[in-house]
Amino acid sequence: MHHDFGTLSDIPRQGIIARYRDWLPVPPGAEPITLGEGDTPLIRADRLLEQLPPDRRPPGLFLKFEGANPTGSFKDRGMTMALTCARARGAQAVICASTGNTAAAAAAYAARAGMECWLVLPAGGVAAGKVGQAVACGARILPVRGSFDDALAAVRQVVTERPDLVLVNSLNPDRLEGQKTAAFEVVDQLAARGEDEPAAVFLPVGNGGNITAYHMGFATYATAGRLGRLPRLYGVQAEGAAPLVRGRPVDQPQTVASAIRIGRPVYGDRALAAVRETGGRVLAVSDEEILAAQRLLARLEGVFVEPASAASVAGLLKLARGNEPGWEVPEGPVVCVLTGHGLKDVDTALRAARSGDAGSADLAALEAEALEPDAIVQRLLSVPAGGQ
Ligand code: F0G
Repeated sequence: MHHDFGTLSDIPRQGIIARYRDWLPVPPGAEPITLGEGDTPLIRADRLLEQLPPDRRPPGLFLKFEGANPTGSFKDRGMTMALTCARARGAQAVICASTGNTAAAAAAYAARAGMECWLVLPAGGVAAGKVGQAVACGARILPVRGSFDDALAAVRQVVTERPDLVLVNSLNPDRLEGQKTAAFEVVDQLAARGEDEPAAVFLPVGNGGNITAYHMGFATYATAGRLGRLPRLYGVQAEGAAPLVRGRPVDQPQTVASAIRIGRPVYGDRALAAVRETGGRVLAVSDEEILAAQRLLARLEGVFVEPASAASVAGLLKLARGNEPGWEVPEGPVVCVLTGHGLKDVDTALRAARSGDAGSADLAALEAEALEPDAIVQRLLSVPAGGQ
């Protein structure tokens, strides 16, 4: 029997280097360090779209669910590049500062590469799931007093004196090269479904590296003739950590969205250029708006994300509901990038559920007020069909 296996780039989840190698500056002959990252779902979100006023709805809304990457965030795209290039150049150890996701990805890809991994993390500022990932993968963790910005300043100083430690923060250009593949996928996935090109893309912004990478990716595809027009890029920050919206650094950034609790963004200028050059903008959303968006995503679409990721959706809701000026209804599909998985930070989700409408089950009930099996059967038999 004849099998048509197609081309290499048709094989799903082989990793972004195998899939997009021609578009990436990988050293010749380098063997990819990969966990099969990329190829994440682009989920149509009709129920969420209905939350926008009818006359302000774009023709389609999609969620780029980067939580489906192997370590649960978009950082895997950059880390496969960073570790592949570092190892090809003979490095044996990597280091980064992180609010957690970069740390989890660095730890995993370094483990796979057989390399040592040092992580400098803001004490008390990293969600438990992310620390758990890094610890499990054998990384060495140094907690620092202060914020992510302090951690990064320390790491930048260390690498000037220890050039053997390869910096894998997004300052490392290989990281952004890898992350730009998410923009390729957005274009490729919409095209494969017969949808129009993306008209607007919403992203949470911390250091500004990821929005810069998307800009690079879309611009690369436009130059290659694969995209007619760059989508408007919207960068969303948390109100308590919004240096790009305020136009000045924030010394003690505060927000429930710990992943983007950053006051001195490394790529601030490039992030602002990305929104300006595409006709988008930066905006800030409150923690309440972030948690409300997180709940809507889970309850309407079944997509559970960490708080920072919900900022993209909170930004869209804020603009489209008219609570902020500056919204022209896009003529094509809108994409919200959901950068990290909800399982990264279960504590925040449980706390938010308990302080608001808790739904029908909470952890306390599971632990303390458990029902006998007979009572469960009776309870369920008394539920009307199709009802609650
Ligand atoms: N969303 C999540 C879930 C993140 O972890 C980050 C950044 C961002 C958005 C913002 O991306 O910094 O490129 O603008 N996390 C970094 C980290 C800082 O250390 O994991 P950015």
